[in-house]
Amino acid sequence: MNDAWWQRGVIYQIYPRSFRDANADGIGDLRGILGRLDYCASLGVDALWLSPVYPSPMADFGYDISDYTNIDPVFGTLAQFDELVVEVKRRGMKLILDYVPNHTSDEHPWFKDSRSARASAKRDWYLWHDPAADGGPPNNWLSHFGGSAWQWDPHTEQYYCHAFLKEQPDLNWRNPDVRATMYEVLRFWLARGVDGFRVDVLWHLIKDDQWRDNPPNPGYQPGAPPHYSQVPVYTTDRPEVQGIVAEMRRVVDEFAARVLIGEIYLPLERLMAYYGANLDGVHLPFNFQLLQSDWNARGIAALIDQYEGALPPGGWPNWVLGNHDNPRIASRVGLPQARVAAMLLLTLRGTPTMYYGDELGMVNVPIAADRVRDPLEKNVPGVGLGRDPCRTPMQWDGSLHAGFTSAQPWLPISDDYAVVNVRSEDDDATAILSLYRRLLQLRRSQPALSGGDYEPVATSGDLLAYLRRTRHECLLIALNLGEEPYALSLDPLAKAGRTLLSTYLDRDGEESNGNVALRANEGLIVAL
Ligand code: GLC
Repeated sequence: MNDAWWQRGVIYQIYPRSFRDANADGIGDLRGILGRLDYCASLGVDALWLSPVYPSPMADFGYDISDYTNIDPVFGTLAQFDELVVEVKRRGMKLILDYVPNHTSDEHPWFKDSRSARASAKRDWYLWHDPAADGGPPNNWLSHFGGSAWQWDPHTEQYYCHAFLKEQPDLNWRNPDVRATMYEVLRFWLARGVDGFRVDVLWHLIKDDQWRDNPPNPGYQPGAPPHYSQVPVYTTDRPEVQGIVAEMRRVVDEFAARVLIGEIYLPLERLMAYYGANLDGVHLPFNFQLLQSDWNARGIAALIDQYEGALPPGGWPNWVLGNHDNPRIASRVGLPQARVAAMLLLTLRGTPTMYYGDELGMVNVPIAADRVRDPLEKNVPGVGLGRDPCRTPMQWDGSLHAGFTSAQPWLPISDDYAVVNVRSEDDDATAILSLYRRLLQLRRSQPALSGGDYEPVATSGDLLAYLRRTRHECLLIALNLGEEPYALSLDPLAKAGRTLLSTYLDRDGEESNGNVALRANEGLIVAL
């Protein structure tokens, strides 16, 4: 039975700084989200995932946490958070929080204590090491955000390890006190009614206990992000991390009907390990393949089949089309194909995760040099890693600042906001927003879409096609990823079919006999 809410449902990611600002400081907040819950419910999504809202110096915009069990004043208060939980549930939705276990902020009291003296009781909560013989960093490990992963502490004369910013020291997950304390953090939020967690950089938690150098990456191309120059065998995906994943799962299982989702950027066969040897790992190891693949039918058909084939027995699939770390889909593939991508995301087998604003066709926003906020772009400029372009404010209406704020927004608003916004798309039956709503309705009304089997249909060229079926229903999904029209023969699947939805929203109920005709850039859902 695949009927857990996180299997049937659709997850919608909100980047809280950019969703809606209710207190006129240019930064989104919890009251802003509260005021837009009716919009989220009207979309037809089932769960909201919030990127971090905990107290943070914001060196990495909330992924550097200085208190795991509170709310940053920029976002609001714990009381407002409790109200949000109630209001999300009142609308029949679930709430998922971000959990950032790999590192704290350097301003977290634990780290301040840890760095105060070698004899500190918290010293071993972080990864401290003596310098190499030449006085330099203990080994060659690199930070994802540029430079060495080691930062010298002149006061205690040792280095500490940070996989990301030096303001984000890595916790020592081999330390049982760290584990116990971090599991209490999960319980704190679960007891407050949170329905689950998206776990940040889960595959990073354990580092080699012999501190061995990472080998060089022979395939490294100059110009690629600097940390790609190594194969991170000693810093990520260590065998011992699986025990921690299982422990986290046991904590989440102390509460009924919760979900654990892992952020894991790894090749397929390694990704699958995070389901756990006995499905006792995370429920959903995020599947980022659609974020990373070229947009062509043959490549995507192959990756779907590989993914389906690699899943462990009973492992539930999931698909992600956008998030706060990657270019927006409409910019990657263009607006016509962004509609096809929406149909793909919401008709594949498994739990889809949507990224706020993608339902409007929001694009990457170019950021002028003096408005760059992302520390990654500041540290490693010019290689296209910057994440500000996909984090710009939600476009609510055509008024000043797109109805996001009455102040100066923390990131610029897209130039297209007068047209691309919720209010104007609400009134437009052909807008991509209407397509998303229709797709989400169909997922609810057609069990074949939320729970049916997946069966590839052999095609060629720019056409991608598959069936979703239950014992009683069979739906054909045909997606034209190219600019040429296509005729897809229904033989031997069926003699005729009835169109339930076109990405152009203009063929409802159309009957096809013998074959289905697709226009350029068109996706269809056809009942057989
Ligand atoms: C994850 C987050 C990203 C953050 C990084 C460090 O990849 O998604 O936004 O910068 O972890 O916490």
